[in-house]
Amino acid sequence: MEVNKNIFLIGFMGCGKSTMARLLTEEMGAELIEMDETIEAEAGLSINEIFEKYGENHFRDLESELVLRITEKGGAVVSCGGGAILRPENVENMKKNGQIIYLSAQPETIYQRVRHSTTRPLLNGNMNVEYISSLMEKRLPRYLAAADKIITVDGKEKREVLEEILLTIC
Ligand code: S3P
Repeated sequence: MEVNKNIFLIGFMGCGKSTMARLLTEEMGAELIEMDETIEAEAGLSINEIFEKYGENHFRDLESELVLRITEKGGAVVSCGGGAILRPENVENMKKNGQIIYLSAQPETIYQRVRHSTTRPLLNGNMNVEYISSLMEKRLPRYLAAADKIITVDGKEKREVLEEILLTIC
């Protein structure tokens, strides 16, 4: 991997970005950046609290500002928040020195993985396959347009997904 290049893992909530980013950094020795955790640590608030107190738009501002910093620094494997590709400026910044890998998963797969989660404000009160499908449908064009590479995760072991990612970035 070039010294200053970033690898951005994008995809819907629960598609496995955090897990795969961790496995990737273990394999590659790169820095791991978990966007949501970084935002929470810097704000001193959970994602739920940021949405409740300041609204989604403020969260998106924090996200954009973090993407910019990551782009300037380079050399990291980044687990992006599921909505980090919603603002075109974020995708533009990611592409400046990064490769974007989209982890694609079916709504049913997502539901199985996130159904007990209460830490995702967009799904609180909307925890069902129908809602996940409709939000995914809205976002799909953004994920596809941003992606340099698409990897489908449904029914695959973590190791299999990791191998596919490694083949993409080597
Ligand atoms: C969001 C995804 C979440 C988090 C926030 C908003 C989204 O991250 O950034 O709740 O808009 O899809 P994960 O994809 O890591 O769950």
